[in-house]
Amino acid sequence: MSDESRSTPAQTSVAAVIPAAGRGVRLGPGAPKALRALSGTPMLIHAVRALAASRHVALVVVVAPPDGAAEVKSLLDAHALPDRTDFLVVPGGESRQESVRLGLEALPPQYGIVLVHDAARPLVPVDTVDAVVEAVRDGAPAVVPALPLADTVKEVAPAAEAGEPEPVVATPERSRLRAVQTPQGFDRATLVRAHESVTENVTDDASMVEQLGLPVVAVPGHEEAFKVTRPLDLVLAEAVLARRRLNDGF
Ligand code: C5P
Repeated sequence: MSDESRSTPAQTSVAAVIPAAGRGVRLGPGAPKALRALSGTPMLIHAVRALAASRHVALVVVVAPPDGAAEVKSLLDAHALPDRTDFLVVPGGESRQESVRLGLEALPPQYGIVLVHDAARPLVPVDTVDAVVEAVRDGAPAVVPALPLADTVKEVAPAAEAGEPEPVVATPERSRLRAVQTPQGFDRATLVRAHESVTENVTDDASMVEQLGLPVVAVPGHEEAFKVTRPLDLVLAEAVLARRRLNDGF
């Protein structure tokens, strides 16, 4: 391969994988979380639009509930999405990690940078998406958007039964802690290697890269990139959308 034809990080195409296969049990009974409506539009469509809004993102892979790929495909067809972005739907797995791996396996070869974004973070602003992509293009193998914490965090010895008092074990210094969001951005080969070598369950993708001993960097996250997890989060998400509509009106 000549030097001219070898792709540099700055030229590498970016794909986003959106795991949307969770049941969303903490949100209460009903449809899978990603398919629940916010302002009349499924949460997943908000999340897909949020990632496709980035001029960097050329492909969005949605990881659907294992038995819901056809439904998710027709949902994408039924909603307006940018023409310059390609879309793929693949069935997901038992765990979030497995769903992400299945999304990665569906990526065509030209995508050298991968964003992994929770469908449950439907309102992430495009500036946050772009900041993550730019940090990967600048050479970081893994990038997370992160925010300082408002609450002090305690480590406890978890009680056997919910509601029982739990002994506090430690209080990490709050100024050194960050709450981590998505999209998390990766050099594709690094994320694939992480999935091949890390087998235990993790709660975020970047921690698998940490386990490989590679550097992970944090860039500023955004309060609107919060994860819709509990019923009150739906109220907050509706309020954010109402505020956006009001601001767009002026
Ligand atoms: O459960 P949690 O809130 O951590 O889920 C984060 C994201 O991972 C959600 O968008 C959810 O749909 C997705 N997920 C998945 N496959 C699973 C479990 C969760 O794609 N088996």
